[in-house]
Amino acid sequence: MAATTTIPSVQLKGCEKAMPTLIMGTASYPPSDFETTKAAILEAIKVGYRHFDTAFAYGSEKPVGEAIAEAVRLGLVRSRDELFITTKLWCSFAEPSQIVPACKMSLRNLQLDYVDLYLIHWPIRLTEMISKTPVAREIVRPLDVKGAWAAMEECKKLGLTKAIGVSNFATKTIEEILSSATVPPAVNQVELNPLWRQEKLKEFCKKKGIHFTAYSPLGANNTKWGDNRVVDNEVLAEIAKSRGKTTAQVALRWVYEQGVSIVTKSFNKERMKENLDILDWYLSEEDTEKINQLPQRKGTTLASVLGPHDIVLELDALV
Ligand SMILES: NC(=O)c1ccc[n+]([C@@H]2O[C@H](COP(=O)([O-])OP(=O)(O)OC[C@H]3O[C@@H](n4cnc5c(N)ncnc54)[C@H](OP(=O)(O)O)[C@@H]3O)[C@@H](O)[C@H]2O)c1
Repeated sequence: MAATTTIPSVQLKGCEKAMPTLIMGTASYPPSDFETTKAAILEAIKVGYRHFDTAFAYGSEKPVGEAIAEAVRLGLVRSRDELFITTKLWCSFAEPSQIVPACKMSLRNLQLDYVDLYLIHWPIRLTEMISKTPVAREIVRPLDVKGAWAAMEECKKLGLTKAIGVSNFATKTIEEILSSATVPPAVNQVELNPLWRQEKLKEFCKKKGIHFTAYSPLGANNTKWGDNRVVDNEVLAEIAKSRGKTTAQVALRWVYEQGVSIVTKSFNKERMKENLDILDWYLSEEDTEKINQLPQRKGTTLASVLGPHDIVLELDALV
């Protein structure tokens, strides 16, 4: 597909700018260096991506920021406003008084005056920055959900972000936010792929008007936090063969047909294009039925990042 691909957008509640629904992720494994990430983002802009998903925790904010500046200098986009940028609050800055400063720090990393979407990365707080995992149990605390959300609302009020949302939040924690929120979360970004379908959470978000974004749609192929269970799945491969598509495209098309937006990461030019080429064809009812029968297995767990601590296991069981 050429650089002219028009990616459909969705209107988030309370956000004027439309959000492109096929999103380029920036969490890479093994971690990519600055120049590799910057070059990949520039390539993705050339290929047609307009929405980038970064996070303090990925270490990708600075190269993404440099790529945006370069894209404007090169005339690939007229201004930064043509791009939609999402970043996330890391758990080590999740105490309410730390949140506005953390958002400002991300903006400095990105060389931006505002982001389009700021998400709470995980519903948990760490009392320290972490350099290795698993972390010590003493630094893992529950999130002050209402206090943190009030600070997120402050980020929006100050114009640091156009929209605010959450990531890896279960229904119970979202209900807690909604009980006191002035601005409800616009987005919940959560793992979703043919092998982790998230039907209950997806339905809940729909009912509440919270847009659902799927991460790890390819099962985080070849990363520390995922494996090849999606891209090497035999049922998906069989459907792909019959349609002249790749297994990854069948997985992405199935996710797209769930009515969600999709963050897929590829720093490879050919796979970037392949992952956009899912818009002008459909899965049959029979294909969908087969995919909906696949056994379920969650990929990303917080326990694998922070350690199997009681509070972490409780959160993992909820999402
Ligand atoms: N909110 C959260 O807690 C959270 C958690 C995880 C991820 N995310 C976000 O979501 C993004 C995507 O998720 P993810 O990176 O975990 O997993 P993913 O997009 O499911 O998979 C990415 C992996 O698949 C490979 N890949 C990409 N396209 C492919 C294709 N067409 N065929 C075969 N392999 C392909 C990539 O390698 P190449 O680069 O070599 O193509 C990379 O190793 C992340 O980058 C991040 O921005 C958010």
